[in-house]
Amino acid sequence: MKRILALCCVALFASQSMPAQARGGVDLPPVNNDLYGKECGSCHFAYQPALLPSASWQKIIGSLNNHFGDNASLSAPDTAAILKYATENAAEKAGTPRASKIASSVSGAAPARITEVPYIVRKHRELSPGAFKNNKDVKSFSNCKACHTRAAEGFYDEGEVKIPGNKNWEND
Ligand code: HEC
Ligand code: HEC
Repeated sequence: MKRILALCCVALFASQSMPAQARGGVDLPPVNNDLYGKECGSCHFAYQPALLPSASWQKIIGSLNNHFGDNASLSAPDTAAILKYATENAAEKAGTPRASKIASSVSGAAPARITEVPYIVRKHRELSPGAFKNNKDVKSFSNCKACHTRAAEGFYDEGEVKIPGNKNWEND
């Protein structure tokens, strides 16, 4: 019993006071599907499936011929394989605390974009729109990896944010 209690305390302490990487866990599981990484990482960063609920992936991957103004369509088998990978690893299934927060913040809806997920919007509310659009090295809120230096590895902690050209960004 004593041992169990001690373990509980350690776990509680670790989860409250250390960033995710110090616990050895990622914020979101990194992309580990070659087809997805190649096809969905050619125009932009290959977004981790855990950034959206599976209902959003169904919408997005179901309409690749009209993808935010681009045609991103793929063969039927590739589309099916990518849909399977994205939905099986979506926010509500990924199992990390950050993924669960994304899943619960959409409360059953299927946002068309990651940048419309309430949790993601809330996390960036202190940034002016200019931080994205007027910064030539960022250009768009959708460009996660411009500021999140380890986004591709699945780390989004604010401690690892570097806004290009803004050396004074500090976390409190
Ligand atoms: C031909 C280029 C192209 C390809 C290939 C492509 N995308 Fe995109 N994608 C875009 C553009 C353009 C946007 C809009 C970016 C913006 O608004 O800054 C976008 C946006 C997105 C967004 C929304 C990002 C946000 O703002 O929250 C998601 C999610 C996404 N793409 C997923 C995918 C997936 C999954 C695949 C692979 C099946 C894929 N994309 C392949 C061009 C592409
Ligand atoms: C212009 C730079 C920039 C871009 C682009 C950006 N972020 Fe962020 N992000 C930040 C900053 C700065 C913070 C910390 C904000 C704060 O603490 O007030 C943050 C915080 C976060 C957090 C919460 C981190 C924490 O420790 O609680 C997540 C999750 C996140 N961003 C995900 C994303 C995703 C996903 C994208 C792309 C769709 C994205 N961000 C695009 C700058 C950016």
